Amino acid sequence: PNCILIGAPIDEGQRRPGCVMGPAAYRVAGIAQAIRDLGHGVEDWGDLSLPELRTVACPNPAVHDLARVIGWTEVLCDKVDDALSAGALPIILGGDHSLALGSVAGAAAFAARQDRPLFLLWLDAHSDFHTPLTSESGNLHGTPVAYITGREGFDAFPAFPAVIPPERVCLFGIRSVDPAEHAALLRHDLAINDMRVLDERGIVAPLREFLEKVRAAGGMLHVSLDVDFLDPSIAPAVGTTVPGGTTFREAHLVMELLHESGLVTSLDLVELNPFLDERGRTAKLMVELVGSMMGRKVFDRPTRSF
Ligand code: ARG
Ligand code: MN
Ligand code: MN
Ligand code: MN
Repeated sequence: PNCILIGAPIDEGQRRPGCVMGPAAYRVAGIAQAIRDLGHGVEDWGDLSLPELRTVACPNPAVHDLARVIGWTEVLCDKVDDALSAGALPIILGGDHSLALGSVAGAAAFAARQDRPLFLLWLDAHSDFHTPLTSESGNLHGTPVAYITGREGFDAFPAFPAVIPPERVCLFGIRSVDPAEHAALLRHDLAINDMRVLDERGIVAPLREFLEKVRAAGGMLHVSLDVDFLDPSIAPAVGTTVPGGTTFREAHLVMELLHESGLVTSLDLVELNPFLDERGRTAKLMVELVGSMMGRKVFDRPTRSF
């Protein structure tokens, strides 16, 4: 497929400055050329900017930058829908994870018009299942999965275009869940592949199970890759490191399986904070992972079927 890069320099979904430099770091790390080298076309739409803001109120005083996050949500929803409508695979260069409020909304709007079910693979240390009402940090990057699955508390946001039922969501790699998120997850039927599950089963079987569901339903698949999915020892450039993350080899294997599935229709790269990086190693690793998802192989065997 042809890829469209969409820069989303958003950092209002959390409090540590630096994520605004994410899109620039991916470009410096050579993301466009890495994808071209694999034989795909790449268009770079540049960085998005905030639209005019509405005044909004939030009943939870901890929540900050609500109006700006809503502004980003609107513009991203529109642009991701546009990129999909152009027949391309949008890759959103973040920016913190609050950008997924908009990118997944855009993918959902497009999928609804195509009359195809949208599935969501959330590669993250966190479940990001807070609502603006339950968040204690007030950081809206911890809320997209709740918005996407139609939970309450998002009245100030645009209505989510076509709610994704929890059964179509797969959390993968999680190892940090707040009590309010935990309680809510017990009431919703998401696939929860936390590290306990991945340590016991490995990454291949649970991922194949989910991809098989997507394929059987003729679905579209949005993948949201948070830098903290990776172990901090290989990916230090993120504000919310959690020990015990996926290894270099596991992460590449995930991306290779995604490539082989042929199912991915949109991708977020989120939470990269270049200010915390070590000589660009995290940005470079993220670009290499995109390469694996776009078909880079050590040895080119015939694709195995799922
Ligand atoms: N659950 C915590 C919070 O609500 C951490 C969220 C981290 N999310 C992320 N996208 N890195 O603040
Ligand atoms: Mn548009
Ligand atoms: Mn996240
Ligand atoms: Mn995270």
